[in-house]
Amino acid sequence: MSKDVNIDWENLGFNYIKTDFRYISKWKDGKWDDGKLVTDNKICISEASTCLHYGQECFEGLKAYRRKDGKIQLFRVNKNAQRMKTSTDKLLMPEFPEDKFIDACMQVVKANEHYVPPYGTGATLYLRPYMIGVGDNIGVKPAPEYIFSIFCVPVGPYFKGGLTPCNFNVADYDRAAPRGTGGYKVGGNYASSLQSHKLAAEAGFADCIYLDPATNTKIDEVGAANFFGITKNDEFVTPHSPSILPSITRISLMQIAKDYLHMPVYEREVFIDKLDEFKEAGACGTAAVITPIGGIEYKGKMHVFYDEKEVGPVVKELYRILSGIQFGDVEAPEGWIYVVE
Ligand code: PLP
Ligand code: COI
Repeated sequence: MSKDVNIDWENLGFNYIKTDFRYISKWKDGKWDDGKLVTDNKICISEASTCLHYGQECFEGLKAYRRKDGKIQLFRVNKNAQRMKTSTDKLLMPEFPEDKFIDACMQVVKANEHYVPPYGTGATLYLRPYMIGVGDNIGVKPAPEYIFSIFCVPVGPYFKGGLTPCNFNVADYDRAAPRGTGGYKVGGNYASSLQSHKLAAEAGFADCIYLDPATNTKIDEVGAANFFGITKNDEFVTPHSPSILPSITRISLMQIAKDYLHMPVYEREVFIDKLDEFKEAGACGTAAVITPIGGIEYKGKMHVFYDEKEVGPVVKELYRILSGIQFGDVEAPEGWIYVVE
C-alpha cells in the first residue's frame, strides 16, 4: 500500500469511486485483442450499439480481500469466469476465456493495490467485469463488435449495518420471466428490478423478495442476493428454481454448512406461505456477503425469523467461516483462493 488514497475505509458504503486503472479488451473480426490497462473511466461507443437498445450486456461481481499478512486474495474467480460464459452464450456474445478473465482480474487488482482496503476494516475491493455489444447495428441481432472490461471500487456493506438483520417485503412484480433470463447475470434482470426495489425502499424495507415467476408461490431471490434458511431441524435449505442466479456465495455456503458445520443441505422449493419451518434466514451474495433476514412481509403480515435486531447463531457462524475463508483467517477448501502475486 504505497500510495495514500485518503479513504475512510471503516465507513465505506457500496458506492462508485473512480480508481486508477481498468482493464479493457475489444473483440473485432472474430477475435479478442491482447487487452490492456487504461486510466480513462469513459468508453466511447456507437449510438447504435446493441447494449444500449437491446440489452446485449452481461456482468459479474467479485471481491479482492486484504489478508492479515498484507497479501491480497480473490475468492473463486474461476466461478465468475465460468458463469460469465453461461451469460455470454445465452446472449450470443463471444466467450472471454477463463484464463484471460482471471489474469485480467489480477492485473486490475495489482494496478489498484492501494485501493484494496486494510485488513480488519471489513471493506473489500469489488471487481466489476462486464461485456457489452457495440458497433453499428440497428436490427435486433447480435452486435458486430464487443467490449470486455473490468473496473474496481473499494466497498463496504451492500445492506446497511453488515451483520444487522434487514427486513424485506415481497415484490408485486417479477424480475424475470418463466423460462427467461433469471438464471443469467444480464442487465435486463436488474432493469426490471428497479421499480420493485424502489417500492420496497419507500415502504421502509431493505429490498424485496422475488417469488418464482411461474406460480408466485415460492421464494426465488432476495433483491440481488440468494435466499437461504435454517430449519428448526438445523438443515441448510436454499431454493431450487431455474430463474435464480446461481450464486457463488450460495454454493460456497452449501459446502461450508455440509463440511464445516456438518448440517444436512437441501436445494429445494421454499414456499412463501411456509416460512414457519425456518428458525433463521439470510440473503447471500458477493455484495451482500451474508445479510441476516430479520423478517419478510407477505400479504400484510410480517414473518419474523430469529429476531429483527439480532443475528441468529447459525447465520453468525456461517458468516464467521465464510468471511474467515475470504480474508484468509480460516483454511479454505482446495481451489477457492487465488493469491494476487
Ligand atoms: N442473485 C442476484 C440476482 C445477484 O445479482 C447476485 C450477485 O451476484 C447474487 C444472487 C449472488 O451471487 P454471487 O454470490 O455469485 O455474488
Ligand atoms: C454482486 O453481489 O456482485 C452483485 O452483482 C449484486 C449487485 C450489486 C448487482
